[in-house]
Amino acid sequence: MTRIVVFGGTGYTGANVVREAASRGHQVVSVSRTEPKDLVRGVRYETGDVEQVAGRLVPDADAVVAALSPRGDMSGRLVEVYRGLAQQAAAAGARYVQVGGFSSLRPAPGAPRFVEGDIPEQFRDEALEGEATRVLLAEEAPEGLDWVFVSPAGGYGAWAAGERTGSFRVGDDVALFDAEGGSFISGADFASAIVDEIDRPVHHRAHIGVAY
Ligand SMILES: NC(=O)c1ccc[n+]([C@@H]2O[C@H](COP(=O)([O-])OP(=O)(O)OC[C@H]3O[C@@H](n4cnc5c(N)ncnc54)[C@H](OP(=O)(O)O)[C@@H]3O)[C@@H](O)[C@H]2O)c1
Repeated sequence: MTRIVVFGGTGYTGANVVREAASRGHQVVSVSRTEPKDLVRGVRYETGDVEQVAGRLVPDADAVVAALSPRGDMSGRLVEVYRGLAQQAAAAGARYVQVGGFSSLRPAPGAPRFVEGDIPEQFRDEALEGEATRVLLAEEAPEGLDWVFVSPAGGYGAWAAGERTGSFRVGDDVALFDAEGGSFISGADFASAIVDEIDRPVHHRAHIGVAY
């Protein structure tokens, strides 16, 4: 049993991670500012701003999942918030999984990341802020922090939850595409990949992508 704290545990990504981790018998704490309507049995729900509660929760964690989103009043806050979480996870010796965006991936080895090209306006701010959180880990992660930065497929999101298939691929920072050239991963399968990295860590201080 692993003690996992999921920041953003009531969001699209976080709720799937919470459900998956709890179903595998882990001790899960979900953090959000508002309590969810649907509670997962056995999960401890903590309400409060990440910066108010992290100092109390992270020291007891074996793994920390950062699944906030840079939207609404969180826009512009994510890098500093994640800097704090990464430092606290390092001090606790906890595995640190930070969720980012598809745009931080590359279309081909060595090619510029998608975020360096033209991004549709409605996604641009989120893509740039997500990329800044990747750079934070790649360039400034505390020494000794066992981090992994996870990008979903391009078609991932609350608007397309999909189904659990139990079958997906995990790549590096080069985007994976299916046989038809599509880029998709369901919420449940993405969460599975994240909890897999906690149960059996394969990638260390690395950027990975999850897709079919
Ligand atoms: N295709 C893609 O590339 C793609 C698609 C979707 C998401 N993503 C990325 O995945 C990550 C997660 O996104 P998501 O859509 O799963 O997020 P989401 O559904 O918006 O959930 C955000 C979660 O964070 C919580 N939260 C926000 N601010 C907080 C604060 N100050 N303190 C504590 N909790 C806070 C929210 O609950 P409260 O508001 O109640 O606090 C909620 O639980 C983001 O980095 C996003 O960019 C990428």
